[in-house]
Amino acid sequence: MAADAGNGRFFTVDPLTSASFGGRISLAETSTLDSAVCALESSPALLVQALYDAGGLLYLSGLNEISTEPGLLTRLSHLFGPEVEDYEQTLTERSKIHPEWPQILQITNMPPSCQMPPVPPDPPLTAAGGLPVKFPHRRGWHTDQSFRRPPPDISLFYAVIPSPPGQGQTLYADAAGAYDTLPADLKATVEALEGIHAIPGIGRAEYAVKAGETPKPLLPHQWPQRQPVVRTHPVTGRRSLYLCEAGQMDWIDGPFVGMEPGPEGDGAELLYDLMMHITQPKFTYVHEWSQGDLLIWDNRNLLHCATWYDAQNHQRLMWRTTTRGNPGELYSGEGRSWLPEDDARPMAGLDND
Ligand SMILES: [Fe+2]
Repeated sequence: MAADAGNGRFFTVDPLTSASFGGRISLAETSTLDSAVCALESSPALLVQALYDAGGLLYLSGLNEISTEPGLLTRLSHLFGPEVEDYEQTLTERSKIHPEWPQILQITNMPPSCQMPPVPPDPPLTAAGGLPVKFPHRRGWHTDQSFRRPPPDISLFYAVIPSPPGQGQTLYADAAGAYDTLPADLKATVEALEGIHAIPGIGRAEYAVKAGETPKPLLPHQWPQRQPVVRTHPVTGRRSLYLCEAGQMDWIDGPFVGMEPGPEGDGAELLYDLMMHITQPKFTYVHEWSQGDLLIWDNRNLLHCATWYDAQNHQRLMWRTTTRGNPGELYSGEGRSWLPEDDARPMAGLDND
């Protein structure tokens, strides 16, 4: 990766030292973050190209000014897609949306969202004493909002108040590298396969089906959506595995179209095999957050996963934006599956509002 990928004038890029993908961006010295963002906006393609050159993951640090100027985050987001999504227009619980910036999703244990972190893995550490990353020891791997067609392109995730060191990490997996190294028989199996992706928390997740939960009634725009298991990136042309696991696939009709459904079916067995392949150490990166960190990732070819933190004793506040507008040829001409036919809110009947 060229250290002067940003022409040196705006930023430099260095590979992440603990992963086979990803780049760390160092912005050129400017008096304020606002002036650095202005410089990036003058050559908007540079940072986007750096993202693609780095395999879909960029890490920037020290952007503390975003915490008091959220508009800097939405401006940075605009570099990565023709549209920065308004979460009030997507399948998102209202309590999680920033009260003044509808483009910002708040992931926090603070009110009004009060979102609890994932439970710790069992056992809490690997046999070697490390952080569990590989599925199924680690659960929760997904790609953002894959229960919509077309799904979003790129996410930006910013640490306003991170959890203490050693907690609340975000894990990433290179699903393009994973596809490239897939055994030939599995490659043939998934070639034309479609996964069925569902909104979490509606009674269609693996744990819900196993527990015998009654699935929630859905309006047509909330129905699970089919997505290709092998997705071709619209810019790089690389193929990757586009999947989620327990919480964001449909375990009633899926997880795969045309395969035996349910937690005990052939589809489940295939999903487990694929997830174990994707989350091997050689394809994964663990990010330990510091205040002012910003991670930018491409949902079209990376999976990611949240981890536990001590929400009883610590506050955590993260901001996320997503961009859309370039999902690839497969989705060409499609409308937005998540928009109601009437003037109902997209999440009508599913959240607590
Ligand atoms: Fe996510």
